[in-house]
Amino acid sequence: MCPSAPRLRRGTHPTARDISMAFISSAAMKAAVAALLVFAAVSPAARAVAAEAEAKAKAVGGAPSVPAGSLDIAQLGAKGDGKSDSTPMVLKAWKHACEATGQQKIVIPKGNYLTGALDLVGPCKSSIIIRLDGNLLGTGDLNAYKRNWIEIQNVDNLSINGHGTIDGQGALVWNKNECQRSYNCKILPNSLVLDFVTNAQIRGITLLNSKFFHMNIFGSKNVVIDKVTIKAPGNSPNTDGIHIGDSSNVTISGTTIAVGDDCVSIGPGSKTIRVKGVKCGPGHGISVGSLGRYKDEKDVEDVKVTGCTLAGTTNGLRIKSYEDSKSSLKATKFLYQDVTMDNVSYPIIIDQKYCPNNICVKSGASKVAVNDVVFKNIHGTSNTPEAITLNCANNLPCQGVQLINVDIKYNRSDNKTMSVCKNAIGKSIGMAKELACV
Ligand SMILES: *[C@@H]1O[C@H](CO)[C@@H](O)[C@H](O)[C@H]1NC(C)=O
Ligand SMILES: *[C@@H]1O[C@H](CO)[C@@H](O)[C@H](O)[C@H]1NC(C)=O
Ligand SMILES: *[C@@H]1O[C@H](CO)[C@@H](O)[C@H](O)[C@H]1NC(C)=O
Ligand SMILES: *[C@@H]1O[C@H](CO)[C@@H](O)[C@H](O)[C@H]1NC(C)=O
Ligand SMILES: *[C@@H]1O[C@H](CO)[C@@H](O)[C@H](O)[C@H]1NC(C)=O
Repeated sequence: MCPSAPRLRRGTHPTARDISMAFISSAAMKAAVAALLVFAAVSPAARAVAAEAEAKAKAVGGAPSVPAGSLDIAQLGAKGDGKSDSTPMVLKAWKHACEATGQQKIVIPKGNYLTGALDLVGPCKSSIIIRLDGNLLGTGDLNAYKRNWIEIQNVDNLSINGHGTIDGQGALVWNKNECQRSYNCKILPNSLVLDFVTNAQIRGITLLNSKFFHMNIFGSKNVVIDKVTIKAPGNSPNTDGIHIGDSSNVTISGTTIAVGDDCVSIGPGSKTIRVKGVKCGPGHGISVGSLGRYKDEKDVEDVKVTGCTLAGTTNGLRIKSYEDSKSSLKATKFLYQDVTMDNVSYPIIIDQKYCPNNICVKSGASKVAVNDVVFKNIHGTSNTPEAITLNCANNLPCQGVQLINVDIKYNRSDNKTMSVCKNAIGKSIGMAKELACV
């Protein structure tokens, strides 16, 4: 997130229904599938049988009905020529899938499909899979969007998979982004937005050159993002990889993110967030915040970032909150473990006095409490001497900060490695003297 761009906020309170994830519901069905999967090791034909049985098992929760029309956008008339407008065909496929029951699969076949805004709205009677083999291209005509590009709203049981690409074609409009200059700027369309989505899996796809964020997850829960690739130039404005807000139980795994802003940003109201095996760089790192910009923000709780690598990023692991916070909230229970830094400018940074472009009143007081933050087994190199920066507020010190086996070295000879810490309380274990600042 660039210093001055407002975070996206939408709706007031999450209304997503609480439907528990139980794709394979009966024990008998599980056993049958397991047996078939063992059998599947034997021959390709058997493997196909097992896959089919597994798919059937997953459809438990309603028998699939025959949709009113095709779910393949090419059969609906979309031309993968990169020029014809495929918006109506995608919307039609969504309507057919959403009105059917059981598990339904929308197909975007190989080809380049140009579209404008795709508002894919639920609730649906079905569980929907979007199979993305081709590429979706977001038109450069900003009049074709109201807010976002692909915005999935109020949906349960969604899966997006395949090896296709969601290409925002951001280069066509990045020069219209004014968020680097003005506080109340117009936000360009985000590429893929989940609003009030429960039980979603996004796997294998690539997101390329978004106009604004690549993904925004809002008011959602039980979301898995696995083996996804996100890519935009390091100098493209506000092209955050994945932003999460007011959502819980979101896991990002095995994902590679190279963008012009935060690789992952975790905003207010985020709970039980797991980021594992993520490679980030270039970009601004894995950030919590900014917190406290708006009124009535909710707490951030239980974030684990494990087994990640950050390379050439401006920040590594960061928690930031506004100096003159508009709301009082808590940010608690963070574990950062087994993270490798490669030439990161500020590898570890907590900043309770975040005040970009002097947009806030510099009172020095914070209303965002930062507690229980563990950094364990973090190693590698830093591109500035400040391997660790804990800039906490004197009215509200950071509590329970633990630095355990953190070994980061400044990678040049013109200065020495150091930690710069203020108002941070906790303990250091297994740390070199110059870094043991709590
Ligand atoms: C979502 O999946 C659950 C578990 O399989 C099922 O009970 C529920 O009916 C599904 N919801 C929809 C809208 O298909
Ligand atoms: C969290 O999400 C995962 C994946 O969707 C699901 O398997 C798990 O049951 C969820 N956990 C809770 C506590 O809802
Ligand atoms: C480290 O990062 C800086 C700034 O991003 C860059 O100028 C420099 O070339 C990088 N050094 C190495 C060794 O990659
Ligand atoms: C900087 O990092 C590179 C790669 O890890 C290493 O080869 C080099 O010796 C380091 N330089 C310094 C001054 O630490
Ligand atoms: C070393 O780095 C620190 C922190 O960035 C800076 O304050 C100091 O001036 C630097 N010293 C030299 C000799 O460059």
